[in-house]
Amino acid sequence: MNSETLGEPTRRDFLYLTTGMAAVVGGAAVAWPFIDQMRPDASTLAMASIEVDVAAVEPGMSLTVKWRGKPVFIRNRTEKEIEDAKAVTLSDLKDPVARNANLAADAEATDIARTAGEGKENWLVMIGVCTHLGCVPLGESGEFGGWFCPCHGSAYDTAGRIRKGPAPENMAIPLFSFVSDTVVKVG
Ligand code: FES
Repeated sequence: MNSETLGEPTRRDFLYLTTGMAAVVGGAAVAWPFIDQMRPDASTLAMASIEVDVAAVEPGMSLTVKWRGKPVFIRNRTEKEIEDAKAVTLSDLKDPVARNANLAADAEATDIARTAGEGKENWLVMIGVCTHLGCVPLGESGEFGGWFCPCHGSAYDTAGRIRKGPAPENMAIPLFSFVSDTVVKVG
């Protein structure tokens, strides 16, 4: 018995299958444009989720990656940044909602609820878009030591929560998870 009869795909099998598929696609050419419109295009699929290696991101460092056309800030917060954010009482927040796609829609904006969670509260993964009119805020800036949006003066704290200025909401946390100790999957 050779590998073909055992069902192992060979180059010849592959060529045969390709030819067969071409014939089928040819016969369905009329239906194809309609079906095609219902699917996300290849570039959308490619960006549906990304994996980012954060092994080199030391405390106090950030990484900005592009996901679905938007910047995502990944910050390894310092102890002080974590302490500062934890010390804020919820009643002092302009937006008391976590805005974290990984949690319930009404989860409170505690520091931990804004982060990667228990044991990983140093990691902040957030869409780096000001919730006022969509500028990209500057990191380690502003009155609250987090982010500052120079467009109209919105200041965010070290958990990315809006504290001052015209922005109405905390910066959004996308769906994300750590797929290993050092790799974050966004989306
Ligand atoms: S867009 Fe950021 S303050 Fe207006």
